[in-house]
Formats: sequence, C-alpha cells, structure tokens
Amino acid sequence: MQIRVYRPHQDFRTVLDAQCDLYRLNFPRFVCTPAFLADQAQRLRVAGRRPLENGIFILEDDGKAAGFVWVAVRMDLQGAYGSIDQVYLKPEYRRHGYGALLMQAAEEFIRKQGLKTARLYVTRDNGDAVNLYRRMGYDVTRYEMERPV
Ligand SMILES: CC(C)(COP(=O)(O)OP(=O)(O)OC[C@H]1O[C@@H](n2cnc3c(N)ncnc32)[C@H](O)[C@@H]1OP(=O)(O)O)[C@@H](O)C(=O)NCCC(=O)NCCS
Repeated sequence: MQIRVYRPHQDFRTVLDAQCDLYRLNFPRFVCTPAFLADQAQRLRVAGRRPLENGIFILEDDGKAAGFVWVAVRMDLQGAYGSIDQVYLKPEYRRHGYGALLMQAAEEFIRKQGLKTARLYVTRDNGDAVNLYRRMGYDVTRYEMERPV
C-alpha cells in the first residue's frame, strides 16, 4: 500500500464515484442527486487546481486506488486550521488499519502548511470513523445537537 498525491486526470473519477457512498453512510436522510454530484465535481475541479489549499491523497494498492483523504485549509474565528473533510476507503479495504495511513497523510499536509490544528466533523453513529479519530488523538470540542419537533 502506498500514499501519493492526487492527480486530477487520473483520480477525478475515484474521488467523485465515492461521494454518494460517503454521504449516505454519514447522513441517514441524504439523497444522492445529479445536482449534488455536479456540485461535488465542481468542488473537486477547483480543489485540484489549488494544491496549497487542498491536500488530496490517494491510497494505492498495487497501482489501484483503495481510498483517499481530502483536507482543506480553512479559517474561522480561531484562526487557520486544516479541515479533514473526507476520509474514504473502498468497502473491501475497511477494517485493515488503512484509515490511519490516510489520516497521517492528512496531518502531514496540515503541518507542512504551517498549521497547528487538524479538525474534522464526524457522524456520531459512524463507529469505525469515530474510533479511528479517537485513537489518533482527536477530542470532541463542540456538539451538533438535534431533536425531532
Ligand atoms: C472511516 C474509515 C476511513 C475507517 O478506516 P478503517 O481503516 O476501516 O479504520 P480502522 O483501521 O480504525 O478499522 C476499523 C476497525 O477494524 C479494526 N481493524 C483494524 N485493523 C484490522 C485488521 N488488520 N484486521 C481486523 N480488524 C482490524 C479496528 O480495530 C477497528 O475496530 P475497533 O474500532 O472495534 O477497534 C473507513 O471505515 C471508511 O472509509 N468508511 C466509509 C467512509 C466514511 O464514513 N468516512 C468517514 C467520514 S468522512
């Protein structure tokens, strides 16, 4: 297994094809529409042209894409930080410890951009993801809460 930088011409489909699965797994009421995919495709095109603000890394198994991670440099009231927006392994590559490789690549990118904080959002019920992040030292800093009304 090896990690390398995203190559727009080669990897665009890999990342785009994962979008419906990624969002479905994390947002129970999510419906994957052509409009959503068009938006994600546009985001990805822009990200591919801005490699200093977007770190996208592909995990490869013998030349075949097994997953990817997408980090964006963002700014909020507390300053700049690295936002780990997407971590994705194809189903057959999950539960083998490869998530940590993607996370390490993301954090290395964040450090190289001179930033000190990595931040991410995760759905509470996504146990594998929550456990992976906790194991890597991520702590809860805010809650997003909801109730049916
Ligand atoms: C979230 C995700 C990246 C985690 O990656 P992963 O590599 O599967 O995560 P882990 O290595 O932590 O493995 C998950 C479980 O398998 C276990 N595992 C790890 N290596 C293993 C191995 N070699 N053999 C058997 N089990 C193993 C881990 O112990 C862990 O179980 P635990 O939480 O009960 O301890 C992956 O599940 C995924 O792509 N999910 C879909 C997309 C998604 O939801 N992304 C996150 C939101 S953006």
